[in-house]
Amino acid sequence: MKIGIIGTGNVGSALGKGWASQGHKVVFGTRQPEGEKVQKLLAEVGEGVTAVPIPDAIQQSDIIVLATPWNAASDVAHAVTNWRGKIVIDATNPIAPGLQLAVGHTTSAAEQLATFLPGASVVKAFNTTGAENMLDPLYDGDPITMFICGDDADAKNTVTELAETLGFDVADVGGLEAARLIEPMAMVWITLAMKQGLGRNIAFKLVRR
Ligand SMILES: NC(=O)c1ccc[n+]([C@@H]2O[C@H](COP(=O)([O-])OP(=O)(O)OC[C@H]3O[C@@H](n4cnc5c(N)ncnc54)[C@H](OP(=O)(O)O)[C@@H]3O)[C@@H](O)[C@H]2O)c1
Repeated sequence: MKIGIIGTGNVGSALGKGWASQGHKVVFGTRQPEGEKVQKLLAEVGEGVTAVPIPDAIQQSDIIVLATPWNAASDVAHAVTNWRGKIVIDATNPIAPGLQLAVGHTTSAAEQLATFLPGASVVKAFNTTGAENMLDPLYDGDPITMFICGDDADAKNTVTELAETLGFDVADVGGLEAARLIEPMAMVWITLAMKQGLGRNIAFKLVRR
């Protein structure tokens, strides 16, 4: 299955590098496929990975990762008219000034995104940890946890496999409405890392016994 990653910033490039290194087919969807930043990224990721305009990446891919600022989500959603059958991984955090959730607590970015994408299966994932952890999710040799949610069990299984391929332990928090919990979790990570001074080498881990 081909993975289309929309956005070539911290998250998009980390996920693209990770999956490409595990032999997955990756295409970046970007506003500037020929730009210097994207060409440098392609050189780093290695052979077989391409960069194309956003509508082309969506059309070519079975799985799409939204790795853009939340305020670009609507534009990306409207870049193509047919999302039927696609798995869409929403990695965004809807951050407003003052570290607030732009969508509040009675809905979520993921649920709003799903309304833009009729026929697609939206899975929230890769939003609760820093991009560096996506490239290296082991702490003292133990995997950190990736919290996911979504309404389509098959889509969640696919996303679970993709997260495990990168080295994460996966915790399924439930239906897409659980993004109302997972998105504020990201604010906890950001607050600890940035405001409380712990830095970016921190991660959530679910322990079990
Ligand atoms: N940084 C983290 O550690 C982290 C962790 C978890 C989740 N997140 C969330 O993941 C998302 C991406 O974060 P990031 O740190 O990777 O951001 P970033 O480094 O700023 O990259 C975002 C990318 O999105 C694309 N983009 C920006 N504006 C766009 C627009 N109007 N239309 C289409 N594409 C646009 C750009 O790619 P092109 O220039 O190639 O088009 C840009 O490189 C955000 O929602 C963030 O909250 C971030």
